[in-house]
Amino acid sequence: MDIRSTLFLCCLFFLNILLSQDLIIIESSEYAIVLKKDSLKRLQHVYFGSKASNLNEYRSIDKQLRFEVKDAADLPNHVYTPSGTWNTSEPALQILHSDKNPSTELEYKQHIKKNLGDGVSLSTITLVDPIYKTEVLLFYKVYHEENVFEQWSTIKNNEVQAIELKKYASANLYFRNNDFFLTQYHGAWGSEMQPETHLLTSGIKVLDSKLGTRSNLYAPPNFILSLDGIAKEDTGKVLLGSLAWSGNYRFDFEKDRFNNLRLIAGANNFAAEYKLGANQIFETPHFIYTYSEKGKNQASINMQRWSRKYRIHEGEGDRLTLLNNWEATHFNFNEKKIVALLDQAKEIGIDVFLLDDGWFGNKYPRNNDRNGLGDWEVNQNKLPNGLSNLIKKANKRGVKFGIWIEPEMVNPKSELYENHLDWVIRQPNRKEYYYRNQLVLDLSNPEVQNHVFGVFDNLFIENSNISFVKWDANSIIYNAYSEYLARNKLPQSHLYYEYVKGLYKVLERVREKYPKIPIMLCSGGGGRVDYGALQYFTEFWPSDNTNPLDRIFMHWEYSHFYPAIAMSSHVTNWNKESSIKFRVDVASIGKLGFDIEIDKLSEEEKEFCKQALLNYKSLQKSIWHGDMYRLQDPYENPIASIQYVNQEKTSSVVFSFLISQRFQTFYSNEPILFKGLDPKKKYEIEEINLFHREITEINQEATYSGEYLMKFGFNPIVTDKRKSVVLKINEITL
Ligand code: DGJ
Repeated sequence: MDIRSTLFLCCLFFLNILLSQDLIIIESSEYAIVLKKDSLKRLQHVYFGSKASNLNEYRSIDKQLRFEVKDAADLPNHVYTPSGTWNTSEPALQILHSDKNPSTELEYKQHIKKNLGDGVSLSTITLVDPIYKTEVLLFYKVYHEENVFEQWSTIKNNEVQAIELKKYASANLYFRNNDFFLTQYHGAWGSEMQPETHLLTSGIKVLDSKLGTRSNLYAPPNFILSLDGIAKEDTGKVLLGSLAWSGNYRFDFEKDRFNNLRLIAGANNFAAEYKLGANQIFETPHFIYTYSEKGKNQASINMQRWSRKYRIHEGEGDRLTLLNNWEATHFNFNEKKIVALLDQAKEIGIDVFLLDDGWFGNKYPRNNDRNGLGDWEVNQNKLPNGLSNLIKKANKRGVKFGIWIEPEMVNPKSELYENHLDWVIRQPNRKEYYYRNQLVLDLSNPEVQNHVFGVFDNLFIENSNISFVKWDANSIIYNAYSEYLARNKLPQSHLYYEYVKGLYKVLERVREKYPKIPIMLCSGGGGRVDYGALQYFTEFWPSDNTNPLDRIFMHWEYSHFYPAIAMSSHVTNWNKESSIKFRVDVASIGKLGFDIEIDKLSEEEKEFCKQALLNYKSLQKSIWHGDMYRLQDPYENPIASIQYVNQEKTSSVVFSFLISQRFQTFYSNEPILFKGLDPKKKYEIEEINLFHREITEINQEATYSGEYLMKFGFNPIVTDKRKSVVLKINEITL
């Protein structure tokens, strides 16, 4: 190489370095977020989408953008939009400084990227206010293979006196395109996870929750955003978003004057201004999202894989099948009834018996939901020989023992309320309002945190061999007032944030001491399902509604965000008219359990359940640890179909259910296209979970290539006589 070309290459090299200093590129295995500094040191979003083959390609993207309008200073695509200076959009950050000046400016200072190992990297960007020195760190954690991004921020007060945070988002994203469709969720007790899809029009669409202890009940903290028309299973640009936070949240979707979309996600700032003392750091909740240009199914596979590998407690581990007594007995039980249930658990081969609500309280016996919550001593009338005796009886039968608690809450009719009124979230000078006759304990108070931890800990100290816990939380926060914050001269507006932080501190301690105990996250049905809490839990209770038909729809929606291994799914007497087979088959699409009096089943039904449990165990590699494919949508078809495939693509299971029998639609004339198999592998198909002497209508002798099953499909022959069909697909190896 001659001297001129060497010089030229050197110049190019240094130019590259110079340019790349202006650019921040955050990449997963397939997608990229590109940020660029402008002449005022404002950091802008310039790209979100599929990755370029070469980093240089990103350098001039901003040249194609026209955000600067003549004679106007505002900027819609700031990476963390501050307020009070040039901004005219919804801010990500709003601060009242110690001198009462409400403006903040953020200039880019530096960024660093660290490889955290295990396929994870963390980019940290520092932005600083040139006048007040407020320091904002933006964190982007990238899970490369799963194409999942986790974003949050910290805000540091570098003033001499306290400042007030009025808005403090976790993430502020910017998407360019025209037709954005949003799928949001709403619900109520028994009808959780109802989807609604609509076009986003100009202005701001806000999704939020103000329930305090949980949000999933009315408005789950998840959404599906599609950037190019309504999201489809296998095509389109889709982002799944989820705020990992069990309290109040807020998502702002602002379609701006350029027809682009600004997304601001974080804790809800409603009644939640945060006073930050000098040198203190405030950390926001984490916003988790995945992106796919191959439709919703790939996006949910990303999310589910990520969740199992990195988030849900023991996400790649095993689970226990349960027999719960709630639906079978409610509060009305005694030792004899429970021992009978233990026998039934043993009879059909269930791993763990779970004793639900009603086992505690003596002065105020917990015989209904108005009494005793908070008084965690065993009820002498119902269980005179204590828990240890029951545990022994269970273990003697080869059944493990689990127990229900609701340690964050209290009935006004309880000794806990009488003795520790200052631990209760309630207005000191007003009438109390109740949700399910109960109130919430003030977890902003460290003493209460110790108490809640103690409820869990004492159970294990006092009884050996507890193998499972169901952690319930039925109330939302009414009467929002903390005696503890008042006593410590802290603002009441800290309550919502500190409640959740306090809860996580307790759960952290629980997990430190009891890393191996499976714990179900429950909350009056599907009231608390989020990735903030789920890092401490092995599973969650999606809804008290266990009508199998409704559960198919709910499972369909939850599956966008959460893996089957975490979705407790029980056979109950809801919709008793449907057969036990239908109920068991539906419950098998999640984490199978029972909540039913098994001795009321016929011998054939019991035999069926026993065999179905064995079948389920043989499918765990696919259902718990494999990928899920939504084959046929229950909202659009008379037959719903869901498939799981193990990671090696050697084994799979397809569940098909008859949803609607109108106009003879129950005859499935069309084959269903399977997914996720290896086109080159050969498979055989076996129908399992056949009831009693039922003979399959499937030809089990034939073999099929993966290509055949995915291209031409397979007809499970769902009819009014065969309302649910479970097909096990196995690779044939000669
Ligand atoms: C609500 C839960 O969702 C039910 O499964 C049951 O545990 C009750 N609470 C008990 O009060």
